[in-house]
Amino acid sequence: MKTKRFVAAVGLFVIFVISVSFTQEHTRPSANLALSPPMGWNSWNKFACNVSEDMIKSMADAMVKSGMKDAGYLYVNIDDCWQVSRDEKGNIVADPQRFPHGMKAVGDYIHSLGLKFGVYSDAGTKTCAGRPGGLGHEYQDAIQYAAWGVDYLKYDWCNTSTQNAQASYANMRAALDASGRPIVLSICEWGTAKPWLWGQESGGNLWRTTDDINDRWGAKEKWPNGSCCSYGVTAILDQQVGLQSYAGPGHWNDPDMLEVGNGGMTDVEYRSHFSLWAILAAPLIAGNDLRNMRPEIHDILTNKEVIAIDQDALGREGERVAKNGDTEIWAKQLKDGSRAVILLNRSASEQEISANWEDLGYPASLSASVRDLWAHKDLGKFTGKFSTRVASHGVAMITVKP
Ligand code: GLA
Repeated sequence: MKTKRFVAAVGLFVIFVISVSFTQEHTRPSANLALSPPMGWNSWNKFACNVSEDMIKSMADAMVKSGMKDAGYLYVNIDDCWQVSRDEKGNIVADPQRFPHGMKAVGDYIHSLGLKFGVYSDAGTKTCAGRPGGLGHEYQDAIQYAAWGVDYLKYDWCNTSTQNAQASYANMRAALDASGRPIVLSICEWGTAKPWLWGQESGGNLWRTTDDINDRWGAKEKWPNGSCCSYGVTAILDQQVGLQSYAGPGHWNDPDMLEVGNGGMTDVEYRSHFSLWAILAAPLIAGNDLRNMRPEIHDILTNKEVIAIDQDALGREGERVAKNGDTEIWAKQLKDGSRAVILLNRSASEQEISANWEDLGYPASLSASVRDLWAHKDLGKFTGKFSTRVASHGVAMITVKP
């Protein structure tokens, strides 16, 4: 009898502990953020430290006018260099010349357009551009960000000395949650301590898997100042192989922001860059000047069929399912059971590429409908495989639907 009571008491205690932790998990202000990969714009890739209130406001305007907002882009994120110092109370101070009305005014303007507001800081003593970092000020900064109406924080990893990455980001997440405002946490740790292993547990909604992207197609290279290294699109792509199981609704691998439209690649390469990021279920954070896009760039960034693949509700990250020298097949399972597929040609000349149904997890005998997401055309029914010619550095992007 006594044993039975003891077992029942232990059982009740376990249920109590589980339900308390479940309730806490689901009442965190950040619990339901980024259920699909975040979409927006960030200042760094095009403007670096040259940020200002006027520029950010005009970019938010352009996001609406250009149709980017309608296509799903939501966050307007100011990267490094908006901050200059801390005041005598330790509060972070925005550059008074560049942001004469303060950060809340910028946030209010962005919100008035139906968009969301992002800022950048760093887990260490200083940001990568040498501005004041967040170390030791996490709770103070989080309250300040919440008061400004911040919806998204990119938190960098420069000047962190011997800090533990997981603990540092979990601390910032706790601080953001304590502010009471739901704020997306973008972990920018460059993949050094494998954030895919602990990013979700630490409350990160996305985490960089690599060092910085550079506006070019190819391999890893030193920066002009000799420091190592920047990565072209294919160099970043190769580092995503094997990470797909760590992504899902609310927690995404981040292969860095888009370079589409910044001038270093051809339109064919930009189309490939965008398609690949979509099949990776990557955050789609544009990094170009939205105020004067060429129509070709606009059409890439606002291709709703490609964006729908990125945002698919199943939340699966695509993966490389076949590689034959310089040609590759990438596939992503979608909620309706169909597959998004990329036939990628990394070589210097046009190639005939085939996507085999068996590589997509379908039987070879299956007849399936193929749609071209760049031509916006149904191509008909195919059995066993789909083959097409693909330009050098280009992709064909299709859906295959049984
Ligand atoms: C690091 C990040 C970049 C950018 C800069 C800003 O390099 O990885 O994305 O935020 O810092 O200084």
